[in-house]
Amino acid sequence: MSQKNRTILVTSALPYANGPIHIGHMVEYIQTDIWARFQRLRGQHCLYVCADDAHGTPIMLRARQQGITPEALIAVSAKEHQADFADFNVRFDNYHSTHSDENRAFSDMVFERNQQAGHITSRNITQAYDAQENMFLPDRFIKGECPRCGAADQYGDNCEACGATYSPTELKHAVSAISGTTPIEKETEHLFFKLTDFEDQLKEWIKAGHLQPEVANKVEEWFETGLQEWGISRDAPYFGFEIPGHPGKYFYVWMDAPIGYMASFRNLCDRTPELDFDRYWNSDSDTELYHFIGKDIINFHALFWPAMLSGAKLRTPTAIYAHGFLTVDGQKMSKSRGTFIKARTYLDHLNPEYLRYYFAAKLGSGVDDLDLNLEDFVLRVNSDLVGKVVNIASRCAGFINKRFDGRLSAECTEPDLYRSFVDEGNAIAESYEQREYGQAIRKIMALADRANQYIDANKPWVLAKQEGKEQTVQDVCSVGLNLFRVLITYLQPVLPAMATEVESFLNIPVLTWDAIDTPLSGHTINKFKPLMTRVEQEKIDAMLEDSKDSLGTPAAAPAASEKGVPTIDPIADTISFEDFAKLDLRIARISKAAHVEGADKLLQLTLDIGGETRNVFAGIKSAYSPEALEGKLTVMVANLAPRKMRFGVSEGMVLAAGPGGSELFVLHPDDGAEPGMRVK
Ligand code: MSP
Ligand code: ZN
Repeated sequence: MSQKNRTILVTSALPYANGPIHIGHMVEYIQTDIWARFQRLRGQHCLYVCADDAHGTPIMLRARQQGITPEALIAVSAKEHQADFADFNVRFDNYHSTHSDENRAFSDMVFERNQQAGHITSRNITQAYDAQENMFLPDRFIKGECPRCGAADQYGDNCEACGATYSPTELKHAVSAISGTTPIEKETEHLFFKLTDFEDQLKEWIKAGHLQPEVANKVEEWFETGLQEWGISRDAPYFGFEIPGHPGKYFYVWMDAPIGYMASFRNLCDRTPELDFDRYWNSDSDTELYHFIGKDIINFHALFWPAMLSGAKLRTPTAIYAHGFLTVDGQKMSKSRGTFIKARTYLDHLNPEYLRYYFAAKLGSGVDDLDLNLEDFVLRVNSDLVGKVVNIASRCAGFINKRFDGRLSAECTEPDLYRSFVDEGNAIAESYEQREYGQAIRKIMALADRANQYIDANKPWVLAKQEGKEQTVQDVCSVGLNLFRVLITYLQPVLPAMATEVESFLNIPVLTWDAIDTPLSGHTINKFKPLMTRVEQEKIDAMLEDSKDSLGTPAAAPAASEKGVPTIDPIADTISFEDFAKLDLRIARISKAAHVEGADKLLQLTLDIGGETRNVFAGIKSAYSPEALEGKLTVMVANLAPRKMRFGVSEGMVLAAGPGGSELFVLHPDDGAEPGMRVK
C-alpha cells in the first residue's frame, strides 16, 4: 500500500534548560511527534531525537541567581522537560543534552574541520564589559534608553516599544543588567565563521527545495543585505565548551546547539548496535534528515548550520520545517491574563490529547502563527472527538458486547462503504506527509460524519427491539466498529494514547496503516470503556487561574525574554489618567490569614477596610507564613470586580512587590494609616 523503506531522522529544536516547557513550545514537539509517528505507522524507519540546550549566559546567570551550579540547574530542567514531553505523549527515541561528551567531541570536530579548511578567522573587537562582574555583556544583558524613541529599560539589541534594532553602544544611559553599573568598552579577540565562503553553495541549496517557499524568500532577503562573518566564540566566564587551542574562549551556545542533534543521535547509536552513525551523517548519506523548528530560529538552521556541516564534510539536512508561534485567545501568551500556560499546568488539569488534537486541527505546512482559542478548543474537542469519533464506538459496542458476546459478524456487510474509508487513506497520508495536519483532520472528520450517518440510517437501537433483526443489529454494529477502527488508525499519530486503548478494546495488535486493508470479521472484542470524556469549562478556568502569576511564585521567564535576561517584566502598555483614577486603593488590616487547602501558592486573607471586611485570595504563600501577616496593614484594590476562583470568591487584590513579585506590600502603622483610608 504505502511506499516503504525510507530511513528518516527527525529532530525538534532543543529547548533551553533555563526555563520550563510551555504550551507554545508544545506546538513544535507535538507537530514533530505527529509526523514521526505517522512515518512509523506507515512502516518507515523513523527516529526522533532531541536534547536540552544547556549552554550560554542566561543559564549561567540563572544558576548563579539560584545559588547552584549550572550542572545542577540543567539536571533539574532535563528531568522536568522529559517528564512534560512524556506526559504529552511525545515519544523521543533519544533525549540528550548539549552539555555532554558526545557534543563536546562533535563540536571540536566540526570546528577543527572548518578551521583546517580555512573557514575560521579571528580578529579583535570592542565589546561592552561589566567591570564589576568582570565579564563581557551579551546585548541582551545591557539595558538603557532606546536611541530612537527614548523608551526606558530597553535591551541592548532592540526596542520593545518602537521595534527599532540597534547595537548596544547606541543605547542611552546604558547599564549592565547584571550589576547595574555602566559598562565600559573593552577589546577582545574573537573567532569567526566565514559564512561568506558558502554564499554560492547556500544559494544553490536554498533554491533546491530544502526550505518552505516563504522561508526561502526570507533567506534570499538576507543574501541581498549581504552575509556576514559569524562570531562563534565567547569569553569566560561562560557555561559551555572551551575551544580547542584557544584557552579562555568558549563556543557560543548557538555554535554547539545544533551539533546537539548529532550528539543525541550518537548517544542513541552507542546503545543501539544496529544503528550506523556514519550512514546518517556522512556526506554521501542515503538517509533523510529533517529539522522541525520555530520561525524565530531560521537563520541558525537555514544558513549557519548547513554551512558548518558542509565545511566539516558532513551531510546537510533534507529539509528544514519551520512553524509559526502560538497565541492564546488572539494574543501573545501573558502571565497576567493567565495564558502563559506551562506544560505542567496544562497537564494538571486537562488531557494532553485534547491539545494534540486541537493543534493538529489548526496546523498547516506554513509559518503562520496559530491561535489557541479556548472557547473553540472546548467546542472542537467535544464535538469532534467525543461527539463524532468516540460516539461511533459507544453506539455500537454495547450491542456487540451484550448480545453477541463481543463477537463481530462473520462478514463485512458494507464492503463498498468500508472500501471508500480505506481508499481515502492515500489522501490523508499525503496531507500528513506534507504537514497539512488540518487538512488530514478535516478529511478524517468527514469520514466520521459518514460513519455516524450510516448508524443513524440503520438505527441499531430500533432494530434491537424488533423480532428477527438480531443479525442486522450485529452487522450494522460490526460495520460501525470497523469504520471506527479505520478512523482511529488515521488518528493514531495525533491521539496515540487513545489509539492504544482502542487496540485493547478492539482486541487487536498495534495499529498499522496497512492492516486496515482487511476489515475485522468473526473477531471478538473486549468490553467498551469510555475512551475520552468531554472538556469541562471549569478545568480550563482552573488552569488559567493556576497560570496567573501576578502575585504567584516567580515562574519561568516569558517567551520574549527567554532568550535573554530573565528578570524584570517589561512595562505594560500605558493607561489613561481616567483608567488610573478608577482604582480605589484602600488601606486594609489583615485581620486573618490562613492556608488554603489544596492550593500551592495561595493564602486566604480577611481584610478589614474600616467597617467592611473582604475575602481575598493572594498568591503569596511562598513569601509569608499566615502568622506573620495577621494584624499588619497593607494596600488593596478595593473596587476590583469579585472573581470566582477555584477555592471561593476573591473580593479584591492586595499590592505586592519584592524580587519575585511575591512579597506583600506591608505598611508600618506610623503615619496614622488606618483601615479604610483611601490611598492616592
Ligand atoms: N535553544 C534554542 C534552539 C536550539 S536548536 C539547535 C531555542 N530554544 S527555545 O526553548 O527558546 O525554543 C525551542 C523551540 O520552541 C523553538 O523552535 C521555538 O521556536 C519554539 N517555541 C518557543 N515558543 C514558542 C511559541 N510561543 N510558539 C511556537 N513555538 C515556540 O530556541
Ligand atoms: Zn524605541
